[in-house]
Amino acid sequence: MGKLKVAVVFGGRSGEHEVSLMSAKSIMSAIDRDKYEVVPVGISKDGVWYLGASPEAGTITGQAVRLIGRDLVSLEEGTALEHLVRVDVVFPALHGTFGEDGTIQGLFEMNGVPYVGAGVMSSAVCMDKSIMKAVFREAQIPVVPIRTFLRKAVRQDTDQVVSEIEAEFDYPVFVKPANLGSSVAVSKAKNRQQLLSALDLACMYDRKIVVEQGIDAREVECSVLGNDEPEASLAGEIIPSREFYDYYAKYIDDKSQLLIPAPIPEDIHLEVRQMAIRAFKAVDCSGMARVDFFIERCTNKVYVNEINTIPGFTRISMYPKLWEASGISYPELMDRLITLGIERYEDRSASKTTFEP
Ligand SMILES: Nc1ncnc2c1ncn2[C@@H]1O[C@H](COP(=O)(O)OP(=O)(O)O)[C@@H](O)[C@H]1O
Ligand SMILES: [Mg+2]
Repeated sequence: MGKLKVAVVFGGRSGEHEVSLMSAKSIMSAIDRDKYEVVPVGISKDGVWYLGASPEAGTITGQAVRLIGRDLVSLEEGTALEHLVRVDVVFPALHGTFGEDGTIQGLFEMNGVPYVGAGVMSSAVCMDKSIMKAVFREAQIPVVPIRTFLRKAVRQDTDQVVSEIEAEFDYPVFVKPANLGSSVAVSKAKNRQQLLSALDLACMYDRKIVVEQGIDAREVECSVLGNDEPEASLAGEIIPSREFYDYYAKYIDDKSQLLIPAPIPEDIHLEVRQMAIRAFKAVDCSGMARVDFFIERCTNKVYVNEINTIPGFTRISMYPKLWEASGISYPELMDRLITLGIERYEDRSASKTTFEP
């Protein structure tokens, strides 16, 4: 038997395009080449798929292709459809819209291709901060108070929206587009004027926005790995270099610190790890997820902030580092994730899709 062909898909139509390139680069270099053949597939910012693209070059180029079944098929103009590569499994190294939100997962399902990570429903739920938190609340997982507004309401009835926010929360509040990540367009508003600009900014990125009570909290993250019996890694703490963990503190200034394991009391550490697994199961996740927590400073109360179904994957990213500290090396992690993706596919394929009454 030849090596399994793993298509690593990166880039994409998302505000997190650049972050995806960084993740893909690390993923591609960590996959064991004795066991797997890596097939790089870059998606440009306007959504064209290129076989053979590099995550290191600034712009994505290569041979334009489309996925038909498990085949990457040439799209070069004037040529007949030409089968180029048959992939065995896909590793979506994509973050945000069209990659982490269930849309591309739907494409893989329709095409009968196994893939790494969460399925359609789970990806979509976890992408939407408003729905995700509703599911957590239903599962009795603590989350900070949150309100959801449509962009339309924010723009048409700004005064009404502001007064509802001020009636319900104390400043500071956090304003976020419902469906983004990497802190893109997330703001901390300490007064009405800042709230207005925060709402404006978030509305540029999404038709739905969420407003949350800001809390003074330590930020702790925990990695989860598995399908039906997921395991949690040790937790790590983030010490943001800026007032909160915004895009600059995450990716630009390189001054935020990761403390692994998190220097928190043992009972809280255990609570975090158990809650990470509960959160993973509550949204019916599979393969991997990084669950992010707040530990409120004055009460030590643990809240789930969010679950990321495709966490950052650079060598210095929390997800692989937490596994390394818990005894799973980066290459072994890749192997486990690919295997879990195939297992999940087989498990789903075992369900009947016909019914004769
Ligand atoms: N309710 C909150 N209270 C305090 N800090 C928050 C709150 N919400 C977000 N933050 C800060 O903003 C950062 C980004 O918010 P988050 O909801 O995690 O968005 P993203 O999905 O973009 O990572 C968090 O890591 C934290 O530093
Ligand atoms: Mg976050």
